[in-house]
Amino acid sequence: MPDLNLKIRKGILEDVEAIMELEQGSIVHPWEKKAIEALITDENKRCYVAESDGLITGYVGAELVLDEGNIGNIVTHKDYRGRGIASSLFDVLLDDLRSGGIKILYLEVEHDNAPAIGLYGKLGFAKDGVRRDYYGKGKDAVLMSLDL
Ligand SMILES: CC(C)(COP(=O)(O)OP(=O)(O)OC[C@H]1O[C@@H](n2cnc3c(N)ncnc32)[C@H](O)[C@@H]1OP(=O)(O)O)[C@@H](O)C(=O)NCCC(=O)NCCS
Repeated sequence: MPDLNLKIRKGILEDVEAIMELEQGSIVHPWEKKAIEALITDENKRCYVAESDGLITGYVGAELVLDEGNIGNIVTHKDYRGRGIASSLFDVLLDDLRSGGIKILYLEVEHDNAPAIGLYGKLGFAKDGVRRDYYGKGKDAVLMSLDL
């Protein structure tokens, strides 16, 4: 496989269209433009993008309240999955959150999303519980957290 030439950097407003394209077809309920813009501009939110040879190949967004964080979304471009992009995005995000005094990170994931649950397990997230029908009938959310 060719070298990814991967760069992880903070998202900027010029990335919003590319982030929206990444979400289409990958996320059941894609975020609205304003919500993605807020991830980039709000000081209590974080947005990192993965860039490979000028193409945005992934992004992660998080929201912070006091010393807690919540993952809003993580997406890797369909053609670039399984090559460590989500792991690299998390490496940078977790360093940022730890140095900013965030103590715990939460997320919800659909119970049958094996790639995402695999990713979170590898990162050390623990399963805290299940929210029945959170994403619609029969679509439970698994609640997970990571002590930072
Ligand atoms: C989940 C997602 C972000 C993973 O991105 P990725 O860049 O392919 O992930 P990585 O290559 O960094 O993989 C990291 C780990 O995730 C797990 N993983 C990745 N793909 C997997 C798969 N298809 N099945 C099971 N585990 C998988 C593995 O533990 C992997 O570690 P390994 O390579 O050492 O085995 C990607 O599949 C995606 O964008 N999915 C659609 C959007 C989505 O569901 N987001 C999560 C919403 S909660």
